[in-house]
Amino acid sequence: MTVDYVHGYSERETRRLRDQADTLAALLHGGTAYPDGSRVLEVGCGVGAQTVHLVANSPGARVTAVDVDGDSLARARARVAAEHPGAMVEWHRADLYDLPFPEASFDHLFVCFVLEHLPEPGRALSVLRRLLRPGGTATVIEGDHGSAVFHPDSPHARAVIDHQIRLQAAAGGDALIGRRLQPLLTAAGYDDVTVRPRTVYADRTRPGMVDGFTRHTFIPVFESLGDDALAMGSTTEEDWRRGIADLYRTAEDGGTFHYTFFKATAVNPPSGKPR
Ligand SMILES: C[S@@+](CC[C@H](N)C(=O)[O-])C[C@H]1O[C@@H](n2cnc3c(N)ncnc32)[C@H](O)[C@@H]1O
Repeated sequence: MTVDYVHGYSERETRRLRDQADTLAALLHGGTAYPDGSRVLEVGCGVGAQTVHLVANSPGARVTAVDVDGDSLARARARVAAEHPGAMVEWHRADLYDLPFPEASFDHLFVCFVLEHLPEPGRALSVLRRLLRPGGTATVIEGDHGSAVFHPDSPHARAVIDHQIRLQAAAGGDALIGRRLQPLLTAAGYDDVTVRPRTVYADRTRPGMVDGFTRHTFIPVFESLGDDALAMGSTTEEDWRRGIADLYRTAEDGGTFHYTFFKATAVNPPSGKPR
């Protein structure tokens, strides 16, 4: 079972998700550690790119990792077994809207780069909140393509990003969802919602970020979408190539790149509290 997922499930996407998670681990996972014995639900674990960091930072937690895609789940399981053989992870292939767990089964919920693909992210957050015990926490991380600012600036590069935003919207998702996390979590009934931007900035003084983020995480998102963008009829092959080349130019000497992820934490209200 797969979902209509704009990035697809290719080898290349697997590598991209791994590069993304490894390059951004400190930035995104900083401050996220769960006590020994706590029950953590990771929804949309994909190929396990975040799961390995969850278990590295919380080796005593009991993680339940869920994804709707069986192949991704198999890869995730193999990677965690190879890199963290002692980790306590249970794997479930299931739809996050219809998970086979009783209410209040978990102490913590972790969701990273999943809501952006869902037509109903608010409903997902509501449904998942019921799986948290009263007082349990949610951590949600999403990007926002509107935050991409780079030098040299280029209308062709911006048009490429804009096409991706429109393609993701056409598939029912929202590549600009980072800016909406606070209202989404609040409307879904969470308390104590706190959102903090986690900014990536890359220039030649940070070659690891240039390579790991600009070249191997951000630009590949767009490279694989050329055919879909052409099929939309609002770009030409030449303009698309120029846009991709201009994005790569930002990773060269003298180029700079900025992108903001949004990391939210929130609490499932104590039982009895009206909402
Ligand atoms: C961009 S990937 C992110 C994977 C991982 N969280 C990460 O950060 O690398 C999104 C994942 O969400 C999964 N997904 C999308 N809709 C889902 C649903 N309704 N139920 C469960 N998983 C879903 C997809 O199969 C995919 O593996």
